[in-house]
Amino acid sequence: MLFATLAAGEGLDVLNPATENRIATVRSYSPEEIAGLIERADAARPVWAARTAKDRAVVLRRWHDLIMARQDDLAALVTAESGKPLAEARGEVAYGAAFIEWFAEEGKRAYGETIPTFAPGKRVLTIRQAVGTCAAITPWNFPIAMITRKVAPALAAGCAMVVKPAEATPLSALALEVLAHEAGIPADLFRIAPTDDPAGVGTLFCTHPLVRKLSFTGSTRVGQILMEQAAANVTRLSLELGGNAPFIVFDDADLDAAVDGLMASKFRNAGQTCVCANRILVQDGVHDAFVAKVAERVAGLVVGDGAASGVTIGPLINRAAVGKVRELVGAARKAGASVISGGKQSDAGAGFFEPTILTGVRPDMAVASAEIFGPVVPVIRFVDEADAIRIANDTPFGLAAYFYARDMGRIWRVMEALEYGMVGVNDGIISTEVAPFGGIKHSGLGREGSRHGLDEYLELKYCLMGGIDR
Ligand code: SIN
Repeated sequence: MLFATLAAGEGLDVLNPATENRIATVRSYSPEEIAGLIERADAARPVWAARTAKDRAVVLRRWHDLIMARQDDLAALVTAESGKPLAEARGEVAYGAAFIEWFAEEGKRAYGETIPTFAPGKRVLTIRQAVGTCAAITPWNFPIAMITRKVAPALAAGCAMVVKPAEATPLSALALEVLAHEAGIPADLFRIAPTDDPAGVGTLFCTHPLVRKLSFTGSTRVGQILMEQAAANVTRLSLELGGNAPFIVFDDADLDAAVDGLMASKFRNAGQTCVCANRILVQDGVHDAFVAKVAERVAGLVVGDGAASGVTIGPLINRAAVGKVRELVGAARKAGASVISGGKQSDAGAGFFEPTILTGVRPDMAVASAEIFGPVVPVIRFVDEADAIRIANDTPFGLAAYFYARDMGRIWRVMEALEYGMVGVNDGIISTEVAPFGGIKHSGLGREGSRHGLDEYLELKYCLMGGIDR
């Protein structure tokens, strides 16, 4: 362990979702203590901001290298506290580190511009400057990558950052903090502050006058509350909220590729990502063949403790998550859906749900309109392209969508018609540090990753220089 843990009950108890055993207890910070961390971060910020982008990049690169050197240790922590299988956890560590490498470089390209003047004797230009001291609230489903995706651009831009990690997964976050400080990131500039008062800390982040920007990944409901609270201070926000991703299989699709894409998209982290395929829309002519192929692959999934070798589906984050998935499946069944496989809690334990396929699902069923966050494949049959687009867009969410087709005209039409921030065409995994991640409608504001992710931590200042000809 990279940091000290406390006795049970003395702080925030961290449980292993596979065994439900306590694995550590970490210090829980009160909102008042976190206000102190914000003030210290703000005091440390000017010196960091005054360093060159290249200098900041060297430090960030060291952080990246330290993370990758401890990839296996970090992956073990991620698995222990979030439940995801070890191979996925190793992948998440690399994914998370990649944001640091990317933004270390991108920070060097925070260009301003000169603008052709509108009057003799005057010159027009812009510069881009760090937003200031920032805060972040991060989720349990990617306890490393969702932190680095926010902290790396903030630090690269010259900001300070205080992070509240998810109550369920503070250990990986604290390990990241230790490695950041070892890399040379000033201790006060970047702090991880676990708390058992998430609502109080959310309010603090939205209303503290020194917090100029808050980045949040989590549910749409909490995002809306934060947005209301942030209004008083006009705090800048990035919100990465819920999704309801359609995964559309047209009758001209390469079915085997579509099955591969669905397995990757749906069962990543046992279905607990906001870009997981949530509704599977399959065209009439290929419906039965597609379902049969998916059923064959689902039968090969291995449910169990993510730390055990060969396991491909770990536990859900807690029993409440299992209960929610059970209810969605039960309600769909009652409303006429058929269970092709799975459908209940797994024999692996109270925290596990069987990989499940439902057919005969209608768009109005809760399993097709709520974000499932579990290993369930609800299949909706559709007739033609217009039908698929109508069903896919009939949701307040607009994060990720996927479709499989080969006709080039159809590919362009559907890609343009889908009202989503991200569209995977003939691919089920879209996440990468080089591309802009984010949604529209109730799925959020702003983008993370790519060169656009740096803009979230920069202000654009327009400068007019007069008196040039005098
Ligand atoms: C998320 O579920 O919030 C993020 C998923 C990803 O980065 O791929």
